[in-house]
Amino acid sequence: MFDSRVRPNTGRIPSRRTPRFPAGRWIRRAGQLRPGSRVVVTGGAGFIGSHLVERLVREGMRVHVLDDLSGGRRENLPGESRWLTFDRVDLGAGGSSRAILDRAVAKADFLFHLASPIGVSKAHTQRLDTITHILRIGLNVVDACRRHRLPVLLTSSSEVYGRGSLRPLRETDVLPLGTEARFSYGAGKLALEHLVAGLVEDAGVPAWIVRLFNVAGRRQRPETGVVVPTFLKAALTGMPLVIHGSGDQRRSFLHVSDAVAGLLAVAGNSKLIGERVNLGGEEVVTIIDLAHRILAEVGGRGRVIHKPYTKVFGSAFVQVPIRIADTGRLRAASAWCPVSTLNEAIGDCREWLQERQAPLEASISS
Ligand SMILES: NC(=O)c1ccc[n+]([C@@H]2O[C@H](COP(=O)([O-])OP(=O)(O)OC[C@H]3O[C@@H](n4cnc5c(N)ncnc54)[C@H](O)[C@@H]3O)[C@@H](O)[C@H]2O)c1
Repeated sequence: MFDSRVRPNTGRIPSRRTPRFPAGRWIRRAGQLRPGSRVVVTGGAGFIGSHLVERLVREGMRVHVLDDLSGGRRENLPGESRWLTFDRVDLGAGGSSRAILDRAVAKADFLFHLASPIGVSKAHTQRLDTITHILRIGLNVVDACRRHRLPVLLTSSSEVYGRGSLRPLRETDVLPLGTEARFSYGAGKLALEHLVAGLVEDAGVPAWIVRLFNVAGRRQRPETGVVVPTFLKAALTGMPLVIHGSGDQRRSFLHVSDAVAGLLAVAGNSKLIGERVNLGGEEVVTIIDLAHRILAEVGGRGRVIHKPYTKVFGSAFVQVPIRIADTGRLRAASAWCPVSTLNEAIGDCREWLQERQAPLEASISS
């Protein structure tokens, strides 16, 4: 994983043009991660980012987190460590924020780009804000990586598959992305995929694109409206679990530690350079199934109610009945395979929500 070698003109480059790789620098900066590597993680104080940071620090890398804490939390990160630097910075802004990004990129060997507004419900209600931020942040990050020729991995999303299809989704599928507000998030991510592919094809900068499907585990916040922590929070506080629509929608979920392992299996992988790569779980559940598993996890308390999509999101909402990853490309190019179950992801998220709730309850009762 960390020692996959990339040399000029090896690996599959998706362009018919020969990329312009200046040989010496290319070899030095081919995205090989190893102990001592200097790694920037944008969005590193968030859910997936903080688990990635923990793992990189554990592997002996020097990690620089750039995050504006709009969604992430400083306490998600490991405490004092000489291997970890943190800067609170809005990566979508100009001026001094761009200068901080630039300095971090100039010193780094690799960058993981995770910083993003997230959530389909936000995209649905705040289309302009969502896509503007995805693009502003992405343009600044890609531009800095281009100027400093820094290898980069972009976290894209299964939302680029739009309405999707009835079978597991493959990277080669034609994308039926709609113009409805929900798809502003996917459209923003797809635009970033083009920017990152351009880094490889036009600028000769090594880059990787990972399409994440649903991820779950510790530190995933119910405030984002994503289903696992939202259901758990409802179950833990005695509220009904609200299912939008029939509950027949099918999804796969990936434990966050398997997501981090997948990101590391892609980063620096010469077979996947410039490719789109799906990263998702393989245990498929319906949303109604998920609700019952979550009720079982909290001891069977609580109930499930159904609300039509239109009542929650209005008539313009587009629902996606099936969203499941085909991970064949990643499996063929690496030894990655998920090892944790959905129940473990649910259990970890529950534990974290309860830990978070406990100090709050103590301060209210004192
Ligand atoms: N969690 C999932 O299931 C999932 C699925 C598909 C794709 N993704 C992608 O993975 C990445 C991480 O997602 P996550 O679930 O950890 O979300 P998250 O909200 O926990 O993490 C995103 C981080 O980005 C930071 N951020 C947002 N705007 C910023 C800005 N302008 N400047 C600096 N930092 C900023 C937030 O503070 C947060 O810490 C995102 O790019 C997301 O689109 C996640």
